Parts: sequence; C-alpha cells; structure tokens
Amino acid sequence: MENNDYEIGMIGLGVMGRNLVLNFADHGFSVAGFDMDRAKVIQLKEEAEKRTIYGSIVLQDFITRLRKPRAVMMLVPAGAPVDAVINELIPLLAPGDLIIDGGNSHFTDTNKRLKELADRNIHFIGLGISGGESGARFGPSFMPGGAKDAYDRISPILETSSAKVNGENCVAYLGPGSAGHYVKMVHNGIEYALMQVISESYDLLKRGLELTNYQLSEVYSTWNKGLLQSFLIEITADIFQKQDDEPGSFLIDKILDEAKQKGTGKWTSQDAMDIQVPVPTIDAAVSMRDISAYKSERDFASGILFGPDYKIEGGTEPFIRQIESSLYFAMITIFAQGMAMLKTASAEYKYDLKLEEVAKIWRGGCIIRASVLENICAAFEKSAGLSNLLIDPYLSKEILNRQDDIRSIIKTAVENGIPVPGLSASLAYFDSYRSGWLPANLVQAQRDYFGAHTYERNDEKGTFHTQWNHI
Ligand code: 6PG
Repeated sequence: MENNDYEIGMIGLGVMGRNLVLNFADHGFSVAGFDMDRAKVIQLKEEAEKRTIYGSIVLQDFITRLRKPRAVMMLVPAGAPVDAVINELIPLLAPGDLIIDGGNSHFTDTNKRLKELADRNIHFIGLGISGGESGARFGPSFMPGGAKDAYDRISPILETSSAKVNGENCVAYLGPGSAGHYVKMVHNGIEYALMQVISESYDLLKRGLELTNYQLSEVYSTWNKGLLQSFLIEITADIFQKQDDEPGSFLIDKILDEAKQKGTGKWTSQDAMDIQVPVPTIDAAVSMRDISAYKSERDFASGILFGPDYKIEGGTEPFIRQIESSLYFAMITIFAQGMAMLKTASAEYKYDLKLEEVAKIWRGGCIIRASVLENICAAFEKSAGLSNLLIDPYLSKEILNRQDDIRSIIKTAVENGIPVPGLSASLAYFDSYRSGWLPANLVQAQRDYFGAHTYERNDEKGTFHTQWNHI
C-alpha cells in the first residue's frame, strides 16, 4: 500500500520502535515508520513482509503518509533527543495533530512539552511503555497520560496491541498531564527494588550456601511456581542456565558486577523525597547500584576490610524456604511503597489516578508483572482509597505470617557480613509503619535545642519552644 492514509507513525526504529510497529500492524493497523538510519528502515521493510507498513528516511515524506489529523509516536532516548524530534516535527504538523512520547521521559519534561505543544494546538500524550523488546513485539503494558480525548484517538491501537490478562487489556487511561510517565517512573522504581532484593537472595544463596548455577536456577524456577511467581523471578531462573562460549562456564560468572542505570529509579527516589513519601527499598536499590559502580575501590577495600567467614547453620532447605518467604514479604512492602507514592503524587499533581487500574495494567506485559498484583488489585477494588497496602486485611496477614522469616534471614545475613539493604529497608519500613510511637520526639527536641525550631506536645495543642540548658 503506497498511500497517504497510514493510521499511525513511529519515529525511532530501534528494536523497541520496530517491534511496536510490527505489533500494531499485526493487529490490523497501517503504520509508517521513520528513522534517519537507513539500515533500520531497511530492516523494518524486510521484517514487514505482507503487513501494511511504510518506511522512510525522510521526515517530510513520512509525515505526508499519515492520515489527518495525524498521530505520531516517538521512541527515542529521553531528554534532549525528544525535544529535538518535537522541534523538527512542529513545522510539519498542523493543529489537531497528536504526538505520543513512548520513551521514559521525566514527568516534568512531559508537563513542559504538553504546555508548549498545547499553545500550538498540538496534542501530546506521555506514554509509559514496559515490557522490553518482546513486550513491544507481542504485547506490552501501556501507561498513557494526557488529555482524555487525545488518548481516545489512539486507544484502539493501544488496547488491541497491549498484553492481556484474563481477557483484560494492560492499558488504561491513567490521567491528565504527565500521569502516564509518572506511573512509568514509579514502575521503574519498583523494578529497581525488586531486582535489588532478588540480587540479595542470590548473594545469600551463592556466598552463603555456595549453590551452583544449576542449583540456583532450580531454586528460582521452583519459586516461580509459587507465591513469588513473576517475570523477574522467571528470567532469573533462566539467567543461571546460560552457558558462556568457554565450555563448562556460565555467562553470569563472567558479567562485571557493576550495575548501570539510566536514571528512572533515581528519579523515583528524588520525587519521593520531594513529595515526602518514604520509599526506602527503592532508595536502597539506587544506592546499591551506585556502590556497585565503585568497583576498583571495592576491590581495594576487600583486601583490608575483612568480615566474618560464611557459616549458615540450620540446613539448606529451611534457609532457602526462609529466603523465599522474605522475598515475598519484601515484594509486598515494595509494591506498598510504590502505590503509597502514587496515591500522594495523584493528589499532589492532580492526576486522579485509580490505583486499582494501575495494578491491573501491571499484571501483564511489564517488567514488574507478578501474581501478587492480583491481590493488590483486589485490595484497591475493595477499598479505592486504601492508604497503604500493608493494612489491607489479606496482604497484612501475608506479611505478618512471614515476618519471623525475614527477621531470621536478615540476622543471618548480618552475622555473615552479606549486605541485604533492600531486605532490611523492607523490614524497617514495615516495623516503622506499624509503630504507633517512633523516636521522632527526640529529633524534635534536638531541633529545638540547637535551632529553636519549636516542637508540638502530645498532651497540649500549640507550638512550643524551650530554653534548653545549652547556654
Ligand atoms: C521496562 C523497563 C525499561 C528499561 C529500564 C532500564 O519497563 O520495560 O523499565 O524501561 O529497561 O528503564 O532502566 P535502567 O537502565 O535504569 O536499569
């Protein structure tokens, strides 16, 4: 088909962009793709086969192929490249056209772009997309935000191309402005935290119990059939099976222990601090990626700063079972932190998020999909205004039943010198949240002592200052 009626355009034909184009076309939509890199356009054309796909390396030609009013999606790296593409598009578009940013853009950039484009009568959707290469190709989770009528124009494409769970689409209109990119950012914060606690379980099993890669794979694949069933546990089981080219060696043991990051986890922690929502497991995950990057300092310190020898007592099987239980505990507290953050952000930024919808669209397609999300959906279905998942009747029982296990695992980790900041932060979050009293009265007294910052009393209303005995 060589016409000017393609229903949607895609700018950026890297693996994600190309796979989304193929996914949209598989669901009966005609798609035009653009990339400056001729090789990528050629690859798209080769993969297109009989699908209704057009590829171009000329932006103007690409734009003229689109049905009016136009819908142009872009999948380019977050930051300056998004602005560069928008600036090139503006002279080629007309009022009423729609731009969709499918990258991991910072939500404040999305707000700025929305406003600038609205001044030109161009609609803008900030669309979080999760699921990696295979999600893009066969059904991701889509997290759209912006004007509802703009979303409605592309909802048939997103709905049919999204992942499905129990016949339900893993896409829902989330709210105005940057709601979609915000929810995607928190998704990634949760992703960081889950990856961190899983890596801590690996550390306990590898350095603590000295399991082989075959055994590790077996443990994670067994866990994936139980309470921990999730995409991240599933791929972890696969990872331990992957052999390296050198016979008898495993790829995992050849991978440098320095975790990279593109920033979305850090943004989650940063904004959580701004809106004053505690997300300690996400913070710990970001810090651990940072510590991992201090590779040469860690190597040097490992020759000076000695810890205890590893000694795990009480048997392998009970220890493995307790780690499983601890991971499940941590998983619930991580989702609790992320959802509590979304609740506050929704009020702060006027997103009007429906947390049940968010949990629903995370059940399939995305990186943090996990069977526990069914229970999380049920919790918000019962109580849309639930302040924290930890107090949901079902989930609270789930964690209360496992607190002994996580306490025991953390104790063993500490005694063996194995760092478990993610598990510890998860338990501390639980212990702090369930404390009717915290030692913050001392912090208030100290602030008043050294800075006359005043304090409040628990037996009288008002603001007080005391002349402490310091002068
Ligand atoms: C997803 C992923 C995806 C990307 C991460 C990686 O949901 O599909 O989150 O967006 O793989 O952003 O992030 P880091 O490079 O920061 O680990």
